[in-house]
Amino acid sequence: MRERRRFFVANWKMTRTPSAAAELARAMAALARPAGVDIAIAPSFPALDRVRAALLGSGIALAAQDVFHEREGAFTGEVSAAMLKDAGVSLVLVGHSERRLLRGERETDFARKMARLAEEGLAPLYCVGETQREREAGRTRDVLRTQLGALDGFAVPPPGLALAYEPVWAIGTGLAATPELAAEAHAHLRAELAARFGEPVGRATRILYGGSLSPASAPGLFAKEEVDGGLVGGASLSVSDTTAVLAAAAAPRA
Ligand code: 13P
Repeated sequence: MRERRRFFVANWKMTRTPSAAAELARAMAALARPAGVDIAIAPSFPALDRVRAALLGSGIALAAQDVFHEREGAFTGEVSAAMLKDAGVSLVLVGHSERRLLRGERETDFARKMARLAEEGLAPLYCVGETQREREAGRTRDVLRTQLGALDGFAVPPPGLALAYEPVWAIGTGLAATPELAAEAHAHLRAELAARFGEPVGRATRILYGGSLSPASAPGLFAKEEVDGGLVGGASLSVSDTTAVLAAAAAPRA
């Protein structure tokens, strides 16, 4: 029997003002939620409260796109795990490739962020994935293993940990990974998790795929046993695309 429920996480990135985000969240909240699929939405920080209010009673969880690794203090512009928790957030993205590439954040930063989230009882969605150049050099497995090094300091996984495999070359390009390629990367990540934390953790941890997930690419990707759902950017800003991707997530696996 399957142990892992499907998971759809919308990453709205730096789009939508708080009012526009609230309007979109109201439309998402009105969608029929397919059975067996968990849903979370990650709007920008200033939109969190409006989106939280729009999602009340919908069963859709509130997520954040990032967190700062310190507990509190003189860190102008940063947002703490305790602040996110108080704002109603239950899931936080860590390690998104846009943070890695634009902000130079590294595994040591992500380890500290996940430790802080664990303190507050917030679940991390830890994002990993190789660049085009790394894939072409045959380095994908090594890169993923290095990125999982952010978990080195954990004797047990951070509570609620899920992974997102987001190949950088697939993000925002319209070129999703093939189902076979995604399944292979997910199997590798699962084996690495099992090696670190034991087989039961490997089996139970959800691994989402992200990168140009769309009504066209989702059915093939979600047909794979290894793919537990999606971290969705562009398509998550459209109610009709979201409806189609959710329907694919709810379909039985191969
Ligand atoms: P797109 O779905 O727009 O390719 O973005 C994927 C992503 O980065 C989600 O975090």
